[in-house]
Amino acid sequence: MSDVSENRSDGREAGRILIFDTTLRDGEQSPGASMTHTEKLEVAEILDEMGVDIIEAGFPIASNGDFEAVKEIAERTKNAVVCGLSRAQPKDIDRAGEALKSAKRARIHTFISTSPVHMKYKLQMEPDAVHEAVIASVTRARNYTDDVEWSPEDGTRTEHDFLCRCVESAIKAGATTINIPDTVGYTVPEEYRALIEMLIARVPGADQVTFSTHCHNDLGMAVANSLAGVKGGARQIECTINGIGERAGNAALEEVVMAIKTRGDVLPFATGVDSARIMRASKLVSTVTSFPVQYNKAIVGKNAFAHESGIHQDGMLKHTQTYEIMTPESVGVVESSLVMGKHSGRHAFAEKLRELGYELGDNAFQDAFRRFKDLADKKKLVYDEDIVAIVDDEMAHADDRIKVVALTVIAGTGGPQKATITLDVDGHQHTAEASGDGPVDATFKAIKSVIGEGPKLLLYQVHAVTAGTDAQAEVSVRLEEEGSTVTGRGADTDTLVASARAYVSAVNRLALTRGRTKAQAATGL
Ligand code: KIV
Ligand code: ZN
Repeated sequence: MSDVSENRSDGREAGRILIFDTTLRDGEQSPGASMTHTEKLEVAEILDEMGVDIIEAGFPIASNGDFEAVKEIAERTKNAVVCGLSRAQPKDIDRAGEALKSAKRARIHTFISTSPVHMKYKLQMEPDAVHEAVIASVTRARNYTDDVEWSPEDGTRTEHDFLCRCVESAIKAGATTINIPDTVGYTVPEEYRALIEMLIARVPGADQVTFSTHCHNDLGMAVANSLAGVKGGARQIECTINGIGERAGNAALEEVVMAIKTRGDVLPFATGVDSARIMRASKLVSTVTSFPVQYNKAIVGKNAFAHESGIHQDGMLKHTQTYEIMTPESVGVVESSLVMGKHSGRHAFAEKLRELGYELGDNAFQDAFRRFKDLADKKKLVYDEDIVAIVDDEMAHADDRIKVVALTVIAGTGGPQKATITLDVDGHQHTAEASGDGPVDATFKAIKSVIGEGPKLLLYQVHAVTAGTDAQAEVSVRLEEEGSTVTGRGADTDTLVASARAYVSAVNRLALTRGRTKAQAATGL
């Protein structure tokens, strides 16, 4: 970590950058990235363990599911501040206050649009009325906690005089963090830095609060803009694991943290994040959202530390620093190793799970161990990735109301292909048969004849967990129904079984999100 010298009056070192993670709010809000309640708890736990300072756990007014998730994360989180989002409306703020009641440290984040285009068309409010709402919302939030963050939505496209007026009033009303969102990912580094500098120089009371960045990635500059904001005086960065979020996403936590850690010479700052936990967090978020991480993604992509070309390999063998600016270990990349085979027992399996960062309850452990034994019977070599796929699959299906019991498929050149499926729906078994244009089509049709027509298939994607023809297939299925988009996943050595499990998982998730989209549309986010 870089040297952090000056200290602030609140005891925090001046160069210490607070990491505000919004994977569970801005990230989860993006179409298809919805997580189950259990998955949200898991993500929050890993964020807390890795040293994230503030976890934005959700938007409590958006749905009962969001409320319950924020509430339980607030109850469980040990170190981080837990934050709930709210519009500038009394009912939103009260709901956020209620959800955060049990948090050791609670923050309410309230926002309202301040740009001309948002005020005129989205809010249909005059600037004076928006300004009044800023004061009223921050004042109300302060009744629940003394940690209140205020954001001018579309801040980077807001007129400077009006932005200064709103920021000043938010501070006077009791806001302790002022976040400046680049909601549409429009700004560029020099401009964003100048904006933060301008606010700190012009607004009375600016020295009493923490300025924060919140940059979207529409032009691919979210991380650069966030770091420029820090150079301009911001001391909090809002970001998400893998950069997930609305449209092109948010600034990626792993990139921000590693840029600061690696380039202390030009970025004399420090975060409290334990970078060695980055990879595990990235994998978890990718798994629970079923959003794959692109191979060449900075820090966490499969190829981020791979050196293929002869010249690079030669250089690496002579000295790793020839082509490596950070070590794989520093972000938690562990060499994939041959772990166990069919003779490995419970003890070795438990040890391996611990090494991979999992802590499973008794039932989940038994189920995962049984799946491991089955896999070891079918597959000669069992790798870490196989175990991760099994455990993630078990966790993804733990709360499912509908489960796949059995599947038989007739495939081949003869056609039409046929599938017979047995599903367990709330403890009752149903069997159906269907033929289709290929085995996957037949399988999905058989499932639909049990659960009924309805959701539209948006995406069907298969990837092999490891090399070899006996590799497990990991399948993602994205379904859409009445504006709700969800992604389900399944893993198995049989691609068709994995496909059926992924489809059924998506159907289970749709049931959980029903009603949520309407509530979200009503909240304007
Ligand atoms: O991008 C944005 O403006 C937001 C706000 C709610 C902070 O996510
Ligand atoms: Zn955002």
